[in-house]
Amino acid sequence: MTGPLLASGREADVYALGERRVLRRYRRDADVTGEVDAMRHLAGLGYPVPAVYEAAGRDMILERLDGPTMAQALASATLGLAEAAAILADLLRRLHALPPWEGAPASSALLHLDLHPENVLMTARGPVVIDWCNARPGEPDLDTGLTALILAQIAADPGHEWSAAAGELLSAFLRLAPGAPTRLLDEVVRLRDRQLSGTARLDLAADRVLACAP
Ligand SMILES: Nc1ncnc2c1ncn2[C@@H]1O[C@H](COP(=O)(O)OP(=O)(O)O)[C@@H](O)[C@H]1O
Ligand SMILES: [Mg+2]
Repeated sequence: MTGPLLASGREADVYALGERRVLRRYRRDADVTGEVDAMRHLAGLGYPVPAVYEAAGRDMILERLDGPTMAQALASATLGLAEAAAILADLLRRLHALPPWEGAPASSALLHLDLHPENVLMTARGPVVIDWCNARPGEPDLDTGLTALILAQIAADPGHEWSAAAGELLSAFLRLAPGAPTRLLDEVVRLRDRQLSGTARLDLAADRVLACAP
């Protein structure tokens, strides 16, 4: 028996299981094994992720986190854009500084590859990163570039409610982000295009990233 639906993202529904746990269920057929391995590995290294209690098929039972998403905190003005930019940059810097994933080349790090304000929850224990379905080892600049491109997609969409705010967040993020977020931009665009199954125009967003880079 699942409890009430708490939230739905692009791919998953999240149900309350009492006060302390949630059921996160993909709406598509999925195997959460890889995602769960990454989350347990990260939790063991002290990186802020929800604890995983059980996992099978398309379901995970996770620690229930108690705060709003970073996007909700920005929308309610309980969090400022400069602070949000610093948190995103810091979460990426800390992630990429962790010891390499077993068997992966020493120059690679575990990447999130979807780290943006909808996938950070602002909890009493600090910002916590959720939604690890794209996690894999790779070059850190892909991850920072992807965060920038996602913010730029909103900034470059004049009809979007948060277009102006996303532009400011992008500029502040690019000033603080670790590494060289524009170095692998062509590859980042191809990656994002695959994530979105070719449904979005990314050329304007990529131009926006380049225009905002310090
Ligand atoms: N551990 C959790 N505790 C509380 N809420 C959560 C938790 N994980 C996810 N959520 C909520 O569910 C939403 C969707 O979860 P997410 O993992 O990002 O799935 P999607 O792949 O569909 O984006 C999040 O934005 C958040 O509001
Ligand atoms: Mg998500």
